[in-house]
Amino acid sequence: MIILGIESSCDETAVALVKDKKEVLSSIVASQIDVHKEFGGVVPEVASRIHIENISYCIEAALKEAGCTMEDVDAVAVTKGPGLIGCLHVGVQAAKTLAFAYHKPLIPVHHLAAHIYANELVVDMKYPLLALVVSGGNTELVYMKDETSFEILGETQDDAIGEAYDKVARVLGLGYPGGPKIDKMAKEGKPVYELAKPKTQGRYDFSFSGLKSSVLQFTKRMERQGKTYDLNDLACSFQECALDEIFSRIHAALDDHPEIRHFVVGGGVSANSRLREKIEELKTEYPNITFTVPPMYCCTDNAGMIGVAGTIAYVSGRRGDETLTGDASWPIQ
Ligand code: KG4
Repeated sequence: MIILGIESSCDETAVALVKDKKEVLSSIVASQIDVHKEFGGVVPEVASRIHIENISYCIEAALKEAGCTMEDVDAVAVTKGPGLIGCLHVGVQAAKTLAFAYHKPLIPVHHLAAHIYANELVVDMKYPLLALVVSGGNTELVYMKDETSFEILGETQDDAIGEAYDKVARVLGLGYPGGPKIDKMAKEGKPVYELAKPKTQGRYDFSFSGLKSSVLQFTKRMERQGKTYDLNDLACSFQECALDEIFSRIHAALDDHPEIRHFVVGGGVSANSRLREKIEELKTEYPNITFTVPPMYCCTDNAGMIGVAGTIAYVSGRRGDETLTGDASWPIQ
């Protein structure tokens, strides 16, 4: 079974062909990062326009790289949401056009679910499963009893963790995207500065906006007092606080759900070296659970994961029709 997947929810136009859920025949990702860098973050209208410019090229390139034509494709899967609405529309319209022109089934896919299913590309996922999705737009702990059921145990009450990294990087004058830069600087620093600990009500929920403001207030206070501070130490202090927030929730969820057999990660922030280190530590604490942190090409936005999610949805019978539209806040359930 060959599924053509299309992803356009944020600032990557991506198309992939996936065979039998596991094998990526081709994966084209056109990143817009260089354009958005100039603005210090993703500009939605600009992103939608670039998707329009790139989408046909990406579809053509993905088919060519896989050595396939549309005749070989069994179904077209596309991210319906969540994401930036103008961006989603571009992918959805392209998918509808292909599906109806070539008489192929159309499959709407959830972006977060796809981030989780991306793990299928490197491992056979076991259930019940706990997934951590950490990206520029999401911070979620998702419990899956089986392959097609999703329960959000916890989510961010304000900023996503990647957004917090990017905003803190902007305050520190590091440019966009800030995550990789803070990650690198934190390695050279120590967590010596005291920042506000995030406060949330839910046992598994997250909050990053107070922490972000605390970094801003810290820099202002130091400037006012004419004091200098070490940027690496500040990056490290921020990162430790942010990851403590994440890992205290993971511990709570794993302790409360002893039936969990597999823990997986998805989203761009899973590139973070300290986060990867802390997951290694979890392996010794929970020896009965399999921990998977997929390679980066699976973690960041790509269409291979849409192909995998599309395959699972196709088998379970989900179909879209000509009324399919993007949905900026489509719930995962
Ligand atoms: O999943 P992703 O590629 O796309 C969107 O969410 O749009 O994630 C991008 C996010 C950005 O916020 C970026 O700063 C963050 O992932 N990121 C990182 C690292 N690499 C990328 N955050 C922390 N440490 C990293 N090494």
